[in-house]
Amino acid sequence: MPSLVEAVVPPGTLGEVAQPVIRSEGLVLRPWAESDIPVLVGAYQDPDIQRWHLRMMTAGEALVWVHSWTGRWASEIACDWAVEIEGKVHGRIGLRLKLGEGFGEVGYWVLPAARGQGVAPKALAALSEWAFDEVGLHRLELQHSTQNVSSCRVAEKADYLLESTRRSSLLHVDGWHDMHVHVRIAGAAAAV
Ligand SMILES: CC(C)(COP(=O)(O)OP(=O)(O)OC[C@H]1O[C@@H](n2cnc3c(N)ncnc32)[C@H](O)[C@@H]1OP(=O)(O)O)[C@@H](O)C(=O)NCCC(=O)NCCS
Repeated sequence: MPSLVEAVVPPGTLGEVAQPVIRSEGLVLRPWAESDIPVLVGAYQDPDIQRWHLRMMTAGEALVWVHSWTGRWASEIACDWAVEIEGKVHGRIGLRLKLGEGFGEVGYWVLPAARGQGVAPKALAALSEWAFDEVGLHRLELQHSTQNVSSCRVAEKADYLLESTRRSSLLHVDGWHDMHVHVRIAGAAAAV
């Protein structure tokens, strides 16, 4: 049945072009490469990344993960970048996408040694500008456990307004957590 509403972002907008490198404020967001596997394995040994991302990663799994992004970009369901400063990986940031609805959901982590320097909010601001201005998305969402105070600060710094609390919404290793939903709508200015 034909929809009465046009796709906000037409199919093919991303999948028919190469995943871009995004540069902002000394940060370089670039696609993952096989050479990142040791960094990924190390990252997923960090207790905080395990705690909030609910997974670990072996070298074999990291290889599959790195290659999976080519297909996910081509099918326009998700995309992910390594966040580099001066050629060194500091973290990751990515989006789950519903292009037709103009919607994206953000996820990110920063390596333990790079925390507390504003890497995540700057990467989030850069990704948001690209998603709104270059892709044409309308609404970007970010969810974090209400116990993850650091992630709440990242959302606030990148002008993702707290919209709601989803009660008992995501099962973590220690049980069900309430989740904050932060949102940024196209046209809202970033202040990082
Ligand atoms: C949450 C996270 C992405 C923040 O990234 P970041 O680049 O350190 O972000 P910021 O530098 O803006 O710091 C954000 C907050 O983290 C806290 N923080 C500061 N230094 C820190 C450190 N060395 N270690 C941990 N947290 C720190 C502070 O509360 C800070 O807020 P403030 O600037 O108001 O004091 C990062 O801590 C992380 O990857 N944590 C583990 C995984 C995770 O939580 N992912 C998000 C899931 S929703």
